Amino acid sequence: MGSFCISKRSVFYSIFLWVFLAQIFHSASSSKLYVVYMGSRGNDEPDEILRQNHEMLTIIHKGSVEQAMESHVHSYRHGFRGFAAKLTEEQASRISKMAGVVSVFPNTKRSLHTTHSWDFMGLNDEETMEIPGYSTKNQVNVIIGFIDTGIWPESPSFSDADMPPVSVGWKGQCQSGEAFNASTCNRKVIGARYYYSGYAAEEDPEKSTVSFKSARDSSGHGSHTASIAAGRYVQNMNYRGLATGGARGGAPMARIAVYKSCWNSGCYDVDLLAAFDDAIRDGVHIVSLSLGPDAPQGDYFSDAISVGSFHAVSHGIVVVASVGNEGTAGSATNLAPWLITVAATSTDRDFTADIILGNRARVTGASLSPFQMNASARIIPASEAFAGYFTPYQSSYCLDSSLNRTKARGRVLVCQHSGSSTQSKLAKSVVVKEAGGLGMILIDESDKDVAIPFVIPAAIVGKILGSKILSYINHTRKPVSRILSAKTVLGSQPAPQIAAFSSKGPNELNPEILKPDVAAPGLNILAAWSPANAELNFKILSGTSMACPHVTGIVALIKAVHPSWSPSAIKSAIMTTATVLDKQHKPITADPQGRRGNAFDYGSGFINPTKVLNPGLVYEAKPADYKAFLCSIGYNERSLHLITRDNSTCDQSFATASDLNYPSIVVSNLKDTFSVIRTLTNVGSPRSIYKAVVFAPEGINVTVVPQRIVFDSYRQKINFTVNFKVAAPVIGYVFGSLSWRNKISWITSPLVVRGVHSRM
Ligand SMILES: *[C@@H]1O[C@H](CO)[C@@H](O)[C@H](O)[C@H]1NC(C)=O
Ligand SMILES: *[C@@H]1O[C@H](CO)[C@@H](O)[C@H](O)[C@H]1NC(C)=O
Ligand SMILES: *[C@@H]1O[C@H](CO)[C@@H](O)[C@H](O)[C@H]1NC(C)=O
Ligand SMILES: *[C@@H]1O[C@H](CO)[C@@H](O)[C@H](O)[C@H]1NC(C)=O
Ligand SMILES: *[C@@H]1O[C@H](CO)[C@@H](O)[C@H](O)[C@H]1NC(C)=O
Ligand SMILES: *[C@@H]1O[C@H](CO)[C@@H](O)[C@H](O)[C@H]1NC(C)=O
Ligand SMILES: *[C@@H]1O[C@H](CO)[C@@H](O)[C@H](O)[C@H]1NC(C)=O
Repeated sequence: MGSFCISKRSVFYSIFLWVFLAQIFHSASSSKLYVVYMGSRGNDEPDEILRQNHEMLTIIHKGSVEQAMESHVHSYRHGFRGFAAKLTEEQASRISKMAGVVSVFPNTKRSLHTTHSWDFMGLNDEETMEIPGYSTKNQVNVIIGFIDTGIWPESPSFSDADMPPVSVGWKGQCQSGEAFNASTCNRKVIGARYYYSGYAAEEDPEKSTVSFKSARDSSGHGSHTASIAAGRYVQNMNYRGLATGGARGGAPMARIAVYKSCWNSGCYDVDLLAAFDDAIRDGVHIVSLSLGPDAPQGDYFSDAISVGSFHAVSHGIVVVASVGNEGTAGSATNLAPWLITVAATSTDRDFTADIILGNRARVTGASLSPFQMNASARIIPASEAFAGYFTPYQSSYCLDSSLNRTKARGRVLVCQHSGSSTQSKLAKSVVVKEAGGLGMILIDESDKDVAIPFVIPAAIVGKILGSKILSYINHTRKPVSRILSAKTVLGSQPAPQIAAFSSKGPNELNPEILKPDVAAPGLNILAAWSPANAELNFKILSGTSMACPHVTGIVALIKAVHPSWSPSAIKSAIMTTATVLDKQHKPITADPQGRRGNAFDYGSGFINPTKVLNPGLVYEAKPADYKAFLCSIGYNERSLHLITRDNSTCDQSFATASDLNYPSIVVSNLKDTFSVIRTLTNVGSPRSIYKAVVFAPEGINVTVVPQRIVFDSYRQKINFTVNFKVAAPVIGYVFGSLSWRNKISWITSPLVVRGVHSRM
């Protein structure tokens, strides 16, 4: 089939231009890096695949082996097949039509899913994820691959004290590079590789210097995510005295394999695919990716993460990914049903600074600033300190050099921040400091809870507190205020709450699959850092990047206890035991307005580590089910064969994508009636009985057949049908749930229905 991501018109133009230009210059100077994706490896030997890749390029280069070798950048030949090569648009178009090619797509950049990584500094913690009654000893058999910015292996979070040697099946490597050699790995960090060619092809080496051309982490993001999932216990972990105490990752004895594919400015598809290719061969059990495409996400087989994870899951590897930080409806990414996609919540630990106004009113804002004002100072809106040609409106956002030093000196400034701002909150504190300001109050309508390590006494407040402060200033002759240093506050409520930045459903690619799948802590998380960045060993960061490895750690716990469970069984266990209630047993709410959350915010809900090991029942999907899913969304047998290189047919296709045996149920177009089949597998006690309990979405009648299910044996599979019927006019999406319950287990799935008008 050969889907090719360039419009027909531009291909036409480029052929025309190319022929014309080729007569003037003899070079293919317009070459760009492309991924040529060729589906499953099948039974072909890696060397044979490499030979065939070279042969294809030789044909494209009109028989020149030399040019073919020159254009070849990387071959994928372990977990799947294909290659990366420098091609003109015309050559890319020709290759896309060659036998065996599934898709040809440009080397696109993906972003790490921290909100503004430069904004944060850190410390650690979270509630511990110790599960009573289960030993951690099997964790040493679980290997987690992190596709990220590398690792700082000397961090105490990655100590290998008391860890046994690695099992013989491991095929990974400790690749040498800058400040990294074969003995830098240990029994904790058992593998480390790096991928640079996709990055080097796109970025100007002059402008973007790379600090360590090796798996060593210069950014800190990779060390942070790895330690959240699998960091060892570290006493006295803290960030500048905040959040003091011991902390550890979810599965502290699990092994770490590093696949560094993300560099200063991001992660390129060519490198991400190379990382998946090696991770599949090396023998990791889990892949964790805290990064993703910009919304809206493209087709599955033109997206490196979807392609790589499809083959990883086909090899029995669980892949966990973050949903993204765009925060708006429909912005969810990493949408493939074979991924576990994670949204971010707050925890009950906040970092706050008190603001004392002249009228003795005390308000509290989010902050990680260690600085404090010892006396009150005049407070003014930043708009009053506008400088030169800046308007008061522009200055109210405390943009670079927008403040008049004469007016700002010795004052506390009230600055605005909007979600779409390109200037970071941290940078605004630098602007105020440089203008001579003593303190800053930042009014942020979208993200008030993300704490920032400001360079002066400062705090973030929401819109309501913000107008209270502005009104105090308006109604007072000499308004003053004082900002105290940040402190750690435990037990804050409501918690967990969905973070404002966490990307939300519906799934814009396949509305029948609910995304995100689950939610986990991702706001103000303390974990290991790279001392190469800001000389800090630990740092507090926010993002779905931090939520993802919490789930990765839980996957490792399940894998240690149930090594034979499939990726879909593990995913089901996490989803069906999640909760939609917060710690006070009230419905989980979403920042910033505190509205009641729904499945588009948190999928099945907030993870519940104490229940995941004993879900009772699971919804399983085999690789064949994902093939049937692909058929149901429009892939034909020919394209399916290219991807899988087996004799799969679309005979077993589903009527709609809603029929994939997914642990959540979405009916995306309910006109009158609709039925969905699901299959439960018993992983609890052999003889067990469950009853269906339905909370129907408003305006929809839901019946489950049968209402009662009796299992007689372990791993027995039983089908049931959910019938949906419109009872009252429904516009837009409505939410409900279905639980299979007995005295021991509740297996809950969200029900999401979108009503459409058929008559009238
Ligand atoms: C390998 O790197 C470590 C630091 O990670 C260093 O201490 C050691 O001397 C290096 N060994 C060799 C043989 O270069
Ligand atoms: C406040 O007082 C402390 C202790 O005397 C001092 O270290 C700090 O620099 C003072 N802060 C300011 C903003 O003057
Ligand atoms: C700053 O404000 C002072 C006092 O109002 C004024 O004299 C000066 O021209 C202003 N400077 C700029 C650059 O706007
Ligand atoms: C403060 O007063 C100005 C005019 O004096 C007005 O435009 C503004 O809306 C007031 N702001 C608040 C928060 O009261
Ligand atoms: C596909 O079917 C053909 C003919 O029935 C058979 O020769 C071939 O071995 C099959 N391939 C696979 C991968 O099963
Ligand atoms: C359960 O449903 C699947 C398809 O949804 C079907 O292939 C299978 O035969 C059914 N099993 C039983 C026991 O009805
Ligand atoms: C929906 O269910 C209720 C109660 O079970 C029933 O009375 C009603 O007739 C149903 N409506 C439709 C449209 O099926």
